[in-house]
Amino acid sequence: MAHEKIVILTGAGISAESGLGTFRDEGGLWAQHRIEDVATPEGFHRNPDLVHALYNARRVQAAEATPNAAHHALAELERDHPGEVVIVTQNVDSLHEKAGVQSVLHMHGHLAGALCGSCGHRWEAPANMHKTDSCPACQRTSTRPDIVWFGEIPYFMDVIWDHLDSADLFVAIGTSGEVYPAAAFVQEAQRAGAHTIELNLEPSSRVSDFAETSFGPATEIVPLWVAQELSR
Ligand code: APR
Repeated sequence: MAHEKIVILTGAGISAESGLGTFRDEGGLWAQHRIEDVATPEGFHRNPDLVHALYNARRVQAAEATPNAAHHALAELERDHPGEVVIVTQNVDSLHEKAGVQSVLHMHGHLAGALCGSCGHRWEAPANMHKTDSCPACQRTSTRPDIVWFGEIPYFMDVIWDHLDSADLFVAIGTSGEVYPAAAFVQEAQRAGAHTIELNLEPSSRVSDFAETSFGPATEIVPLWVAQELSR
C-alpha cells in the first residue's frame, strides 16, 4: 500500500459529466448570476425569492442527476482501499452518496438540507423552499438552504485540517482552485509531507502546487487513477 491515508477534495468538475453545471467554466453559474445576489447572506436577505428560486432549481436538477464513473470510482476506492479514505467535497449535490460513498464532508453544505437561521435546526429540505416556510423546531420563518455562502465559514474545517495534516496522499478532482480555504488544502497537505495529485479537465490556478497532474474528463482519468492506486 503506497498511501495509507488518502484525502480527496472534489469540486464541480466531478459532477459536470452528470449534467450539473460548474461555476467558472464558460456558461457556468457565475456567468448567469452575480455571486453577491445569489450566494451571500446579504443577497438572500435582499431578495429571498430570487435565491430560493435558484436553489430550488438546482435542488430539483441535482435530485434528478445520476453519479458518473468518477463518483463510482471514488466509492470503489473507499470500499477497497485497505487504508483510510477521506472525501471532502465543495459540491452541494449528493452524487458521492448516490454512488455509495459512506462518508462525505460537505464543506459548503448540501442542497438536500434546510437550515433555520434562528435556532440552527437542520432538516431535509423540501424540493421547493419558500421564504414563508417555518422552521419545524421553532416555527420561525427564518429558513434557508443549508448552503455555505461567500462570507460564511465552511463546515468541518477543524476536522479537514486535521485530515490534511496526517495525509499520505492529497488528490484534488474537478476544482479550479479559485476559492479558499479549499484552494489552500494542497499546500497544507504538502507541509504534512503528503504526495499531491491534481486530476482535472485542464490545469487549475493551483496546478504548480501539485507534485503530479493528469488532465482529461473526470469519467476517464479518475477511474484510471483509482485502478492504479488499488493495484499498488
Ligand atoms: N472533468 C474534470 N474536470 C472538469 C470537468 C470534467 N468533465 N469539467 C470541468 N472541469 C473542471 C474545470 O476545468 C474547473 O477547473 O472543474 C473545475 C470547475 O471549477 P469551478 O467551476 O470553479 O468549480 P469549483 O472549483 O468546484 O468551485 C469552488 O466556488 O463558487 C464557489 O461554492 C462554489 O463550491 C464552489 C467553489
